[in-house]
Amino acid sequence: MIDIRLKVIGVAATLALQSAVATAGCPQKEWADSTLRYCNCQIEKTLCQLPNDSVLPRSINAGSDKWNTTDIGDWTSGFWSGILWYNYMNTNKLTDMLNALAYTEHQRYLVDPNHEVDHDIGFQLLCSFGHAYANTGRAEYKDILLAGADKLAALYNNRVGTILSWPHAVKDMGYPHNTIMDNMMNLQLLFFAANNGGPAEYRDMAISHARTTMKNQFRKDYTSYHVALYDTENGKFIRGCTNQGYSDESFWARGQAWGIYGFTVVYRETGDKEFLRFVEKIADVYLARLPEDYVPYWDFSDPNIPNAVKDASSAAIVASALIELSQLEDNAFYADKYMKYADKMLHNLSTADYQSRHCNSAFLMHSTGNKPAGYEIDSSINYADYYYIEALTRYRDFYANEELNDHEKTKRNTLSPFTYLGNR
Ligand code: GLY
Repeated sequence: MIDIRLKVIGVAATLALQSAVATAGCPQKEWADSTLRYCNCQIEKTLCQLPNDSVLPRSINAGSDKWNTTDIGDWTSGFWSGILWYNYMNTNKLTDMLNALAYTEHQRYLVDPNHEVDHDIGFQLLCSFGHAYANTGRAEYKDILLAGADKLAALYNNRVGTILSWPHAVKDMGYPHNTIMDNMMNLQLLFFAANNGGPAEYRDMAISHARTTMKNQFRKDYTSYHVALYDTENGKFIRGCTNQGYSDESFWARGQAWGIYGFTVVYRETGDKEFLRFVEKIADVYLARLPEDYVPYWDFSDPNIPNAVKDASSAAIVASALIELSQLEDNAFYADKYMKYADKMLHNLSTADYQSRHCNSAFLMHSTGNKPAGYEIDSSINYADYYYIEALTRYRDFYANEELNDHEKTKRNTLSPFTYLGNR
């Protein structure tokens, strides 16, 4: 009798436990979903402030609640559409898609033959038409991306083996062939084109750009130069310097963040382990220098640290990159380490110290755009918000994916929307 009673209690306890597990859900996924709802509320507030869909929110000065706006020619012009696309991917509401499409449409002019571009065409088009294509599969959007890739490829110098990032700086600043670390982000457009019916050599250009950057634009300790200058004629590396960092030899946080994200993309696209081993090194030197809250000072070499301003945009960019990198890793220790860092970065960015819910309608405060030029210091900036919503979406998808069985997992993509553009 006692035996039977114990058995019944045991079975009841097991069933209760199973049902608790089934209904408890995944706390990380629930946290990400609620943080993405915060982003959605902030977006609604910003949309109410914008006069029409050709006016783009770019940044909000510290202490203000008013957006400084910009237009499609600006390097940051794609980020607002990109934010709206991630918002749509999270809400699945038709009105959110229509908003994303409306802002995206204006970016079309960027591929006009009369419009001169620089490497930023990658940021401008991937965040707008890249997401539009990923979400709709419309061939017309793919053609815009292919036309953009042609413009980017036209800046490639095969004696140097990299893209000329800033054609305007040749005249305005007396620079010869120049390549900036930020340009690593835009190789995705060349990979996309090569994967989608564009010239196959665009892929070789992207790989050459990454290899040449890997060779010349990092110091022995794996910190990076913002700008690399090359002899336009013989292709030789001349020197590294900075435009937005503290000094030529300083360790500018966002430059390294672009490098970590960009080399992760190159590894994803090539599967070449040399890029994986390299991105581990450039990520590790960044992580080792972080302050306690994992949000870097704008430049790790600023002598005013700990009284220097922070750059939340770098934290958002790196969090997003590390979520992808942890899933690409072949080393379980690193995979776990990168996910743990990304988790802490995202949670710290989501505290009252960084979220701007009480002062303005951006997502985040405390980013630094261009300190030497004296603008967007300790501000809210649209690219910080873009990589924040991307990282949250990747984080949520990662944990949603964990709940699926193996068969369903293979059908889901938890990385960049651009990873599956090539497979349509
Ligand atoms: N790509 C320009 C910047 O990072 O400020």
